[in-house]
Amino acid sequence: MTQRKRIAVIAGDGIGKEVIPQALKVVEAAGAAVEFTEFDWGADRYLADKTTAPPDGFSNLARDYDAILVGALGDPRVPSNIHAKEILLGMRFKMDLYANVRPVRLMDAALCPLKDVEPKDVDFVVIRENTEGVYGDVGGVFKQGTADEVAIQEDINTRKGVERIIRYAFEYCAHHKKLDGSPRQRVLMCDKSNAMTHAGGLWQRVFKEVAAEYPKIETQHMYVDALCMQMVRDPRPFDVIVTNNMFGDIVTDLAAGLQGGLGMAASGNLHPGKTSMFEPVHGSAPPIAGKNIANPFGAILTAAMMLAHLGMAAESAKIEAGVLEAVRQKKITADIGGTMGTWEAGDWLAERIARR
Ligand SMILES: NC(=O)c1ccc[n+]([C@@H]2O[C@H](COP(=O)([O-])OP(=O)(O)OC[C@H]3O[C@@H](n4cnc5c(N)ncnc54)[C@H](O)[C@@H]3O)[C@@H](O)[C@H]2O)c1
Repeated sequence: MTQRKRIAVIAGDGIGKEVIPQALKVVEAAGAAVEFTEFDWGADRYLADKTTAPPDGFSNLARDYDAILVGALGDPRVPSNIHAKEILLGMRFKMDLYANVRPVRLMDAALCPLKDVEPKDVDFVVIRENTEGVYGDVGGVFKQGTADEVAIQEDINTRKGVERIIRYAFEYCAHHKKLDGSPRQRVLMCDKSNAMTHAGGLWQRVFKEVAAEYPKIETQHMYVDALCMQMVRDPRPFDVIVTNNMFGDIVTDLAAGLQGGLGMAASGNLHPGKTSMFEPVHGSAPPIAGKNIANPFGAILTAAMMLAHLGMAAESAKIEAGVLEAVRQKKITADIGGTMGTWEAGDWLAERIARR
């Protein structure tokens, strides 16, 4: 009998609590051999007892689970969002999930704000460094509240961190295909080395060194500002993009716009060989939370990505095909032009997938 994969589920806050139940339902409908354990980490728990995750929480996740599925964290009742920071960054940093992988794929031309763009024209992946950069929270404030106040936010780039994310991007390129079945061919490194010379210099040197180990893969470089412009002018040439933590954060929201918005974007936080975490790109969207209008497809496609990572390619493909059918048949939520509620869209999809 197939060993069921153990999935830790953290629905979190806001629309996370609405989209994750849809993802679980759809994964079950696809017949995936998984078992879910739900965790109450999030704002409600924090407000009740001031705990975010238990002291041994992250080591338990790493030891006892094959993957983690997260909804979103962030709640206006916790103004500092300390719980979200501790839980999300806790997983990324303490579990060393250094590669944030964000596939950017257009399911239907109607979802893309660009004119004359077809699904085959938007099929790239952004690989974002996930444990360093400006989000390492290194720095401080001096003379706070005075006219002489100084705020310093350091950008951390280690040789080890830069090298492993760049190598991850080349490995990804070497082992993944495009949706049309053709091989991926090119890794583009994006930085701002013309202005941020110290960090950029390290990225440039390491990129050249690692690229030399992959002679069959083409390489390219763009400054982040030029890349953003090119992405909306013509996304066709992009294949695999590797970049740092902050640029990756920004570029992937822009890229999500090409695929229909944040409600359609999936991501994984990975460390090969370790328990990895999967989450939709969107946040907890407090203004629309609890209204049954959030798009569940980002979370559902995230769950499909998780299944593929766990070796369940057939179940993953079944879910992706179901989402494609839902999009084509307009069984979708209002953010992408439909009329369905979160739960109705999830129910329709689960039923469709179960019948396949
Ligand atoms: N990984 C995470 O958990 C994560 C990521 C980003 C933001 N956040 C947190 O979420 C909270 C809100 O952040 P934000 O407003 O900047 O980003 P957000 O992604 O929550 O929302 C941005 C916009 O996109 C819309 N949107 C997002 N997801 C949608 C969906 N599934 N369906 C339809 N519309 C959707 C929202 O209504 C809003 O207009 C903050 O507390 C933030 O810190 C968490």
